[in-house]
Amino acid sequence: MSDTKKLFVKTYGCQMNVYDSERMVDALGADGFETVETPDEADMILLNTCHIREKAAEKVYSELGRYRKLKEAKPDLKIGVAGCVAQAEGEEIMRRQPLVDLVVGPQAYHRLPDMVQRTDNGAKVIDTDFPEEDKFDHLPRGPKARRAPSAFLTVQEGCDKFCAFCVVPYTRGAEVSRPPERLLAEARDLVERGVVEVTLLGQNVNAYEADGWRLAKLIREMARTDGLERIRFTTSHPNDMGDDLIEAFGEVDKLMPYLHLPVQSGSDTVLKAMNRHHTAEEYLRLLERIRAARPDIALSGDFIVGFPGEDEADFRATLDLCAEVRYAQAFSFKYSARPGTPAADRAHVSEEVKSERLARLQEMLTDHQMAFQQSMIGKTLPVLVEKQGRETGQMVGKSPYLHAVHFQADSTMAGKIVQVRVEGSERNSLSGVCV
Ligand code: SAH
Ligand code: SF4
Ligand code: F3S
Repeated sequence: MSDTKKLFVKTYGCQMNVYDSERMVDALGADGFETVETPDEADMILLNTCHIREKAAEKVYSELGRYRKLKEAKPDLKIGVAGCVAQAEGEEIMRRQPLVDLVVGPQAYHRLPDMVQRTDNGAKVIDTDFPEEDKFDHLPRGPKARRAPSAFLTVQEGCDKFCAFCVVPYTRGAEVSRPPERLLAEARDLVERGVVEVTLLGQNVNAYEADGWRLAKLIREMARTDGLERIRFTTSHPNDMGDDLIEAFGEVDKLMPYLHLPVQSGSDTVLKAMNRHHTAEEYLRLLERIRAARPDIALSGDFIVGFPGEDEADFRATLDLCAEVRYAQAFSFKYSARPGTPAADRAHVSEEVKSERLARLQEMLTDHQMAFQQSMIGKTLPVLVEKQGRETGQMVGKSPYLHAVHFQADSTMAGKIVQVRVEGSERNSLSGVCV
């Protein structure tokens, strides 16, 4: 009998969960697990979950429900819940879904191999502590497998901002930044495995601060890594956007001209009720300074419509702000009340009004996205070739502005940066020809 156990991991939520899932696969890989593509082949299923909106959390329970038959057929099958639902709901998950053997919060992943072992004799295991030690220090490093050209790298985690709608400060804990030397080493390691572009991740990535280094310095030093061609970072908070970071956009060639800088609302009343600590005007002036440093920068944002207390005039202020900024890309959501957050107990905007506002906002945001894509037609852009496209003989890559770009090329081009003349724009991508 072989010792290899089969692990199926399903990841929900933000990019940090993608990074964390990779680390958990590494940790369990050192313990004899190899990953499989479907849950029915697995000896262990791990859901890395998201709690940001009600729908995200509910998805997890419907997925778990689907595993009942699998577990009946294979009683040894282990089912684990990781991530932000694990942190927020803890043992409640096992009460609601007794199939679950293991619940592990985002700060306890380094203990996962040990936890899995403890489930072997049928025990239910929970760990949602926020330990003092850095989980990344304790995670085993995987074999030096080849990687896709673009990778995530978590540099900061947690949030001290406590926006009135948001669960993240409760699920991820307080802001912690990882030491710069380790991050530079991890970047070098990624490059050795074929990575050309890294996206530095943090819930408040621009609040990064460790050993006296701020994010701008980390980016400048990382840019000296041979073979690393592109650096991005996400997600930033407007109040942490320092002059040093703005300058870096103008001075560091490898730092890509794209910035995700969520504002959530264009109304000062709503911003205040959200506990965002800045006005719409301050945000717009900040964007002016960023655009002065890097005129071609593509901006992206997040919006919440129907926050408690938002009236039609507040909502129009959001539309006005969007009309002024003209985002290259933006994400918008209906407010979802999250248990335990300050806004959850306030008087809510009706579902119909939320839906109607979301549709109006998305119409404008889509128009702007399309206009930005159209403005690329005729331009020649450096594109990082990533993977096979939809059709044979086609590859898809990434523009500096984060567009997916389709063009004719063969798979040996993966990992290279090629010049592509843009000829077409579709709903969520560009197409062109190599020049
Ligand atoms: N750290 C990031 C965002 C994390 S969550 C930041 O500060 O911007 C990603 C996005 O989800 C948020 O920007 C917000 O637009 C949205 N979001 C967060 N909580 C939400 C809620 N309760 N209801 C609806 N959308 C929410
Ligand atoms: Fe949530 Fe606000 Fe922190 Fe972003 S800054 S993670 S929205 S509390
Ligand atoms: Fe979701 Fe947690 Fe990320 S709530 S958005 S997975 S930090």
